[in-house]
Amino acid sequence: MSARVDVSRSIAPQAAGYDVAAVRAAFPILTRQVHGKPLTYLDSAASAQRPQCVIDAVNDYETRHHANVHRGVHALSQEATDLFEGARDTVRQFLNARSTREIVFVRGTTEAINLVAQSYGRPRLQPGDEILITGLEHHANIVPWQMLREQTGAKLVVAPIDRTGNVSIDAIDARLSDRTRLVAVTHVSNALGTVLPIRDIVRAAHARRVPVLVDGAQAVPHEDVDVQALGCDFYAFSSHKVYGPTGVGVLYGREELLTEMPPWQGGGDMILAVTFDKTTYNSLPYKFEAGTPNISGVVGLAAALRYVEALGRPQIRSHEHQLLDYATQRLLTIPGLTIIGTAPVKAAVISFTIDGIHPHDLGTILDAEGVAIRTGHHCAMPVMDFFELPATARASFGCYSDRSDVDRLLAALAAAQKVFA
Ligand code: ALA
Repeated sequence: MSARVDVSRSIAPQAAGYDVAAVRAAFPILTRQVHGKPLTYLDSAASAQRPQCVIDAVNDYETRHHANVHRGVHALSQEATDLFEGARDTVRQFLNARSTREIVFVRGTTEAINLVAQSYGRPRLQPGDEILITGLEHHANIVPWQMLREQTGAKLVVAPIDRTGNVSIDAIDARLSDRTRLVAVTHVSNALGTVLPIRDIVRAAHARRVPVLVDGAQAVPHEDVDVQALGCDFYAFSSHKVYGPTGVGVLYGREELLTEMPPWQGGGDMILAVTFDKTTYNSLPYKFEAGTPNISGVVGLAAALRYVEALGRPQIRSHEHQLLDYATQRLLTIPGLTIIGTAPVKAAVISFTIDGIHPHDLGTILDAEGVAIRTGHHCAMPVMDFFELPATARASFGCYSDRSDVDRLLAALAAAQKVFA
């Protein structure tokens, strides 16, 4: 199919005071070369780069403060605990959660969704109950529900995408039923960039008393996420997509729900008392944090969120939208290029194909030019199936991306087309 983006939509104005050159200077990796060419990093949706302040925060923690948290009376353990719990409050503020009891540190979005599936879903779901997802979901928001289906006999219901890669609120509303027990939706599609109307989805689900989990992995770096304004019941995101370290992420859960949920992993730190007869679990959020956590990762995540706040989320959003429009217009000038995913509301992702060049070949040729994009199914194979494609090429942006990145992408695509001419 050859969907085209409506580029007549007004280009977002450049955010006043947004100095992208200064932002780029804060990310040391952007000065390096790849294959003798300047790095053009257009794979932030897979993993964003880290600013120096995040690298410094992790280094300072490792160099001066490391010990285990919640376990020692000695100075280092208390310092580590203060940094760890301070980070929890930074996350709380960032998401506008009511309480730090609602902020659970996990390994990432994937673990957060698995936690909800196993701790919220498994004890509640009966055969025939339904979990409603959309056709846009990343595998991390499909497979945990399929596993839960095997365990409980529940059904997976999918609200379909349309030819633009959008999921309408009507498509979701029509699939809510008396058997729906949970709605689990992405906020921003990693494969196409589509932004879903989470407030409307929550309103429709809550009208039937159905809780909503939001996969926010691709939204937190780009959108102004306020869990109280969204009204969602669970919100999951990963640190490494928002300029923090890998191996750490967050599950926000409404306190009333988390309180009722059993722990899903047993071990240290999630207990108050253990005998061979019985274990008394710790309070929120610790009952969900078994074992020594990724302390330096959490410290780095807090530094990343403070960095994003300092840049200004509306400013980042405006900058990225302007870049998205610029890139869309430039890409559409390339003969044979088709943009996959033309929903009316999108965030910093452009998926595309070029006639006669397999996306993997494209990715390899672009890499030789120093241009990093992702190619493949983007861990969203049902999206590829819908568009009857094995794969797409995907350019994705972050707060540091600029027009020179887009221009180098265009030059590299022209080089690739010459190779395959
Ligand atoms: N989910 C990540 C991506 O979209 C890895 O690339």
